[in-house]
Amino acid sequence: MLLSKLPDVGVSIFTQMTLLAQETGAINLAQGFPDYDPPQVLLEALARHALTAGHHQYAPMPGLPRLREAIAAQVARRHADAPVPDPATEITLTAGATEALYGVLAAVVRPGDEVVVFEPAYDLYGPAIRLQGGVPRYVRLPAPHFRPDWDAVRRVVSPRTRLVIVNTPHNPSGAVFTADDWQELARLLDGTDALLLSDEVYEHLVFDDAPRMSARQHPALRERSFVLSSFGKTYHATGWKVGYCVAPPALSAELRRVHQFLTFAVSTPTQHALADTLEQDPTDAHARDLAPFYQAKRDDFRRLLTAAGWTDLLPVPGGYFQLARYAGFSAAGDLEFAQYLAREKGVAVVPVSAFYHDGFDEGLIRFCFAKEATTLEAAAARLR
Ligand SMILES: Cc1ncc(COP(=O)(O)O)c(C=O)c1O
Repeated sequence: MLLSKLPDVGVSIFTQMTLLAQETGAINLAQGFPDYDPPQVLLEALARHALTAGHHQYAPMPGLPRLREAIAAQVARRHADAPVPDPATEITLTAGATEALYGVLAAVVRPGDEVVVFEPAYDLYGPAIRLQGGVPRYVRLPAPHFRPDWDAVRRVVSPRTRLVIVNTPHNPSGAVFTADDWQELARLLDGTDALLLSDEVYEHLVFDDAPRMSARQHPALRERSFVLSSFGKTYHATGWKVGYCVAPPALSAELRRVHQFLTFAVSTPTQHALADTLEQDPTDAHARDLAPFYQAKRDDFRRLLTAAGWTDLLPVPGGYFQLARYAGFSAAGDLEFAQYLAREKGVAVVPVSAFYHDGFDEGLIRFCFAKEATTLEAAAARLR
């Protein structure tokens, strides 16, 4: 008899809601992916490298050197106050940030090790920790701002803490760590052996001119941090599954030990296409345009929802999700309400309880607004 290692884990809510959207014809604002294409320059580069340049064989295990160099240059411009990461020893390409997350957990978490996870949390963290025999120690982020209560964090950090996972900008709430948050975290980890996994896949999506800061920009945190980014998010290409991890050489070496047996390397033509695109954009115009692009979508979507009678919208300082409270419409649980919206109103969303290991439900649903204006307008019309 096969005993499941994750008996309580089923098909993720994102997949479930996408299937429900397909089944019912609902507009899919559930799963986090854009309904517009990556930039033309990137598509043409991929066509070139896939069709004519003959890049069909394995890339080097840590990633193409030219892509790692282009990433190092871009990261150096973005984190001007931090040392330039060494492309040879500090940058590793992975199959999406997903592989980097799993790889880091597999590399550093031993049975019995504790990992601090803020909830609501991206659905991979808990199960991937448990697969290593690790023990997630959950800390709840309070709505509506979802900022860490550092006293609560202090209560779960102990000599058994191997790793702390942070996600900023945060999925699903969009909360963004401030300099004070990083400082609190640094103070908390000072004198411990705990490492930091900083999931920064929405790093460019910080709105309202708020300062944005990476774990790499805090000297005491940098030396213990794996910092993750995702080209899927940055280039509207979630299906390409390319991400990367920046970490000091000793930490990168441990991630690579796992990466070489997990996927070994990332798609070669895709890496060349990304390298071309980064090299041709020395001022990071694409990345810098992302915040105003998504901020405009956020503002339009909030206006549309408000006009449709959805007035209890939570603040969205970053990312590409809008949380809404639906108590004014229904007393149902959030999963039931999400199913009702898909079936009866024709809009698929994600119930926020799916982001809690214990199904904590405070009557919130998540909309993804990384969609064309026409999609958002059609969804709001159905939600009226
Ligand atoms: C917080 C967070 N981390 C990681 C990922 C995975 O990134 P990728 O698609 O690059 O694997 C996602 C994707 O939705 C995410 O929201």
